[in-house]
Amino acid sequence: MLAGKRIVLGVSGGIAAYKAVELCRRLVDAGAHVIPIMTNAATRFVGETTFNALASEPVLTSLWDEDSPIPHTLLGQSADAVVVAPATARLIGAYAAGISSDLLTATLLATAAPVIVCPAMHTEMWEHPAVQENLATLRRRGVIVVDAEPGRLAGGDIGKGRLASPATIVATVQRAIGPHDMDGLRVVVTAGGTREAIDPVRVISNRSTGKQGYALAAAAHARGADVVLVSTVDREPPPGVTMVSVESAAEMADVVVPRIADTDVLIMAAAVADFRPANPADRKLKKGEAIEAIPLAPTHDFLVDIGARKPAHLTLVGFAAETENLEENARGKLERKNLDLIVANDVSMPNVGFAHDTNEVVIIGPGLRRPVPLADKSVVADAVLDAVVAARAR
Ligand code: CTP
Repeated sequence: MLAGKRIVLGVSGGIAAYKAVELCRRLVDAGAHVIPIMTNAATRFVGETTFNALASEPVLTSLWDEDSPIPHTLLGQSADAVVVAPATARLIGAYAAGISSDLLTATLLATAAPVIVCPAMHTEMWEHPAVQENLATLRRRGVIVVDAEPGRLAGGDIGKGRLASPATIVATVQRAIGPHDMDGLRVVVTAGGTREAIDPVRVISNRSTGKQGYALAAAAHARGADVVLVSTVDREPPPGVTMVSVESAAEMADVVVPRIADTDVLIMAAAVADFRPANPADRKLKKGEAIEAIPLAPTHDFLVDIGARKPAHLTLVGFAAETENLEENARGKLERKNLDLIVANDVSMPNVGFAHDTNEVVIIGPGLRRPVPLADKSVVADAVLDAVVAARAR
């Protein structure tokens, strides 16, 4: 999502500067071209060499150490985003007041690109009205402030003032840069295999790990959507995504179905069980009971219900995990469930589907057949969302 984007990473002088190293690496990993600027004070906390080694260009520290007399205007004009992490109280104050005392503040004042400011400081400074008023001023001007988080601070104190996590900052940069083609859309993504109780201890489940659903939720958030992830997986949601945890198919239906009136896009990436134990025991079954069979009953296919009463505003996307006759089976489900799109994957192929970081799919809809060759699940997620955006434009 950040491929080819020019990101100026400003590092000011706080102890959290060491975390900007990890942030720099993650931005580069996401495909960005990262140009680091350090303030003088920042160079006391982390070595320039570290950023030289990890960023896409050598670190810049001064208005005066380049041949160009106007590095700040060039940087400001060419950047797709400027990220300041950590942003100290001084840096925030100078930026809010429009004082360009060094290369970083000069670049901030010279850019029209989205600016993401990530404060980090001791709690007393964070809570000081001067800092909060400066941050309010920046927010009012359209600057994105990634709030400091509570936690352990330098010196061992506990309080608010920690730099947000690199994952949160990268997600914020992605959303700021766009594309903004899902702005304001209310998206629900389901993820993971449902677990159907045999007794209070045991379940019947499947091999789904939820990775494709999580990638879809992160990508939809990056494109501007308000995302709810309905997940069976015990894993933190992507930054900015609201998660509702469920276990069984029935619980998933109870969360998803009442939301349909307020949902623009439902993506059913979850592997919902087709069968559940017919009579789950309310106590743990003991070894000595010699159980010979577990009678099964079908679960309710709530996607069929939603499709049958699909409101006009809703784009409905299903998944079809198949091991044979991939496209034929997927087309059958597309029609039977009255879906707008179905994402078909052959889970018997190497590196495809359950538990892998990669996937290979065919996205099918009325008049659409888009094969997506083996790629990272985030790439597949964006291809699915491209198809969603195109379907909604029709
Ligand atoms: N699905 C659902 N509720 C179910 C079963 C499936 O909502 N009880 C959804 C899945 O989330 C998926 C789509 O329906 O988006 C297709 O699921 P899949 O298991 O591939 O197909 P089934 O309809 O269950 O058909 P089959 O088991 O015959 O392949």
